[in-house]
Amino acid sequence: MTSNQQQIEVSYDVSNEFFRLWLDEGMHYTSGSYLTGKETLEQAQLQKCKILYDYAEMNPEKMVLDIGCGWGSNLEYHVTQGTKRAHGITLSTLQHEEIMRRKLPGVQAIVCDYKDYAPTEKYDAIQSIEMIDHLCSPEQANKGMAVDIYREYFRKVAQWVKPGSYFGFQAILRDRIPRTRKDIADLKFTADVIFPGGLNPRLEELIVAIRPYWEVVEMRTQRESYGKTTAEWLRRMKLHEKDIRAKFGDKTFDDYDRYLSLCVRAFENEWSSDVQMKLRWRTAG
Ligand SMILES: C[S@@+](CC[C@H](N)C(=O)[O-])C[C@H]1O[C@@H](n2cnc3c(N)ncnc32)[C@H](O)[C@@H]1O
Repeated sequence: MTSNQQQIEVSYDVSNEFFRLWLDEGMHYTSGSYLTGKETLEQAQLQKCKILYDYAEMNPEKMVLDIGCGWGSNLEYHVTQGTKRAHGITLSTLQHEEIMRRKLPGVQAIVCDYKDYAPTEKYDAIQSIEMIDHLCSPEQANKGMAVDIYREYFRKVAQWVKPGSYFGFQAILRDRIPRTRKDIADLKFTADVIFPGGLNPRLEELIVAIRPYWEVVEMRTQRESYGKTTAEWLRRMKLHEKDIRAKFGDKTFDDYDRYLSLCVRAFENEWSSDVQMKLRWRTAG
């Protein structure tokens, strides 16, 4: 089972105003790509979009689908750079409201579980940025179901594109296991309270699950970039501490402080990482 609508609302529907206070202007809620280490968060987010746009071999004639499109930041990048049409799906109603508010020419978005999505036309390209961590619960992973669940996702997506299409894919990864009780408790808190129902995949699970539907053409990991991204989110959130406590309550501030502080340590200590892949369509199954 994927994270259900209710669990997604816990993660993304705190309030658009809350997330706007500490994410970048476009409201990317995923790792940016710091290529020199000196960029602003805004620049790093646009660099992430460019990498994935190029991985998908996009051009102004192509129609793209962004699976798990958040508040529409990557859709916006696509229509700004050149895309025939950019479609997005999300499970969050507040994210969808924000996309509609932006009134982006060429962008269409709906609230829909990817499992129920049935496009009427085949796409030329796919994007999906850190949505796959919502597909397999910790309980399912413990039962050894992770690879089958991820493979079913890659199979379904392969049916929505024209043969030979490319997929710009990004995923947060789990890697080493923390050693102290406090770190393990903070990790469990993040999973239970901030992202219920989700679990970050392991890189090796993804590599196995992608086949036979897609082929990995290029791949880069960017653990340090996610460390910088989360550190900047935390810094910006703390700048608004008084405002957040007043408007959204002490619990919201304290929970997000605990979760973002954990993220910074997770990337520093290699408990988590992030991967970007260029995938080439091989078969619809
Ligand atoms: C971490 S957010 C990333 C948002 C966006 N890609 C970005 O870079 O900011 C994960 C996104 O996946 C979406 N999502 C999670 N499970 C989904 C599902 N089963 N079907 C469609 N969207 C889903 C959420 O609604 C959310 O928009």
